Amino acid sequence: MATATATVHPNIALVKYWGKRNGPLNLPAVPSLSLTLDTFTTRTTVTWGSEADRAQLDGRPATPGESKRIFDFLDLIDPRRPPCAVTTANDFPTAAGLASSSSGFAALAVAGAAAAGQDLDAQALSVLARQGSGSASRSLWGGFVEWEMGTREDGTDSVGVPVAPKDHWDVAMVVAVVSDAKKAIGSRPAMRLSAETSPYYGTWVKTAAADVEVARAAVLNRDLEALGRVMEQSTHKMHATMTTCTPPVFYAQPGTIACIHAVMALRDSGTSAWLTMDAGPNVKVLCAAADADAVHAALAPHAAVVHRLGPGGAPVLS
Ligand code: PMV
Repeated sequence: MATATATVHPNIALVKYWGKRNGPLNLPAVPSLSLTLDTFTTRTTVTWGSEADRAQLDGRPATPGESKRIFDFLDLIDPRRPPCAVTTANDFPTAAGLASSSSGFAALAVAGAAAAGQDLDAQALSVLARQGSGSASRSLWGGFVEWEMGTREDGTDSVGVPVAPKDHWDVAMVVAVVSDAKKAIGSRPAMRLSAETSPYYGTWVKTAAADVEVARAAVLNRDLEALGRVMEQSTHKMHATMTTCTPPVFYAQPGTIACIHAVMALRDSGTSAWLTMDAGPNVKVLCAAADADAVHAALAPHAAVVHRLGPGGAPVLS
């Protein structure tokens, strides 16, 4: 019996992953680029060898659906594994568009592989984590990370690649939590619906690689305006494929729209602030660290809570 604990930060995509070319392996239809956040963490302990498979999530027993995802994932590490015990907790809202699945499956990969006695490097852990949740492939490094689509059928080249470390650029991500309610539809079925029913999905897929090129160069040049423009457009294009689904997938709440207008007003008054949104109503705003307080003040009237975060580091194993 061996136990390992991993503490992992979530990442927020600046250029989004939306759509799969292979569902079971989570192979993406597009490349993406993210920023790993500090402060928020998922902490996961895996015990390799227990009387039965048993999982605790945020202090309560996992539902049968959650247990299936967790233990099917551990089967990827070793199909002949013993029963395992898993305890995992987020110190931020789960499943509300705050990227909890990115840190969740990266933490399960890191802790699970270590508890199983497997010495995997970050790239191998990224390939593993990706099979739990696509965005988890980017949480194996701190700072800015690209997820390369890859071309192989088996997904071994669909992997995260570090672009710049966390201290490369003094930026902030200000997160306006408009609602921490669990979302009505998860990213998996919403992606499928976009691919199957949105007339804009083809354009989304066709234009994504160029967006990542622009974003990568902007990160390396520390060009906030160039990064901000492509990042906002990626978000709006992704949400356009959702709102044009049949039936429509609409995550924005009134507070979301108010935050979007607040960010546009900040820019009109000369503050370089740029937004992104995931599969949920919350708004995340990228800006220079020196402008984070002004951005925080502009979002606060429209949100239940506003977090001021910065670039975070790589997973820690204990
Ligand atoms: O990894 P998933 O299946 O939770 O999908 C994440 C999708 C988005 O958060 C909306 C975008 C992204 O690139 O993280």
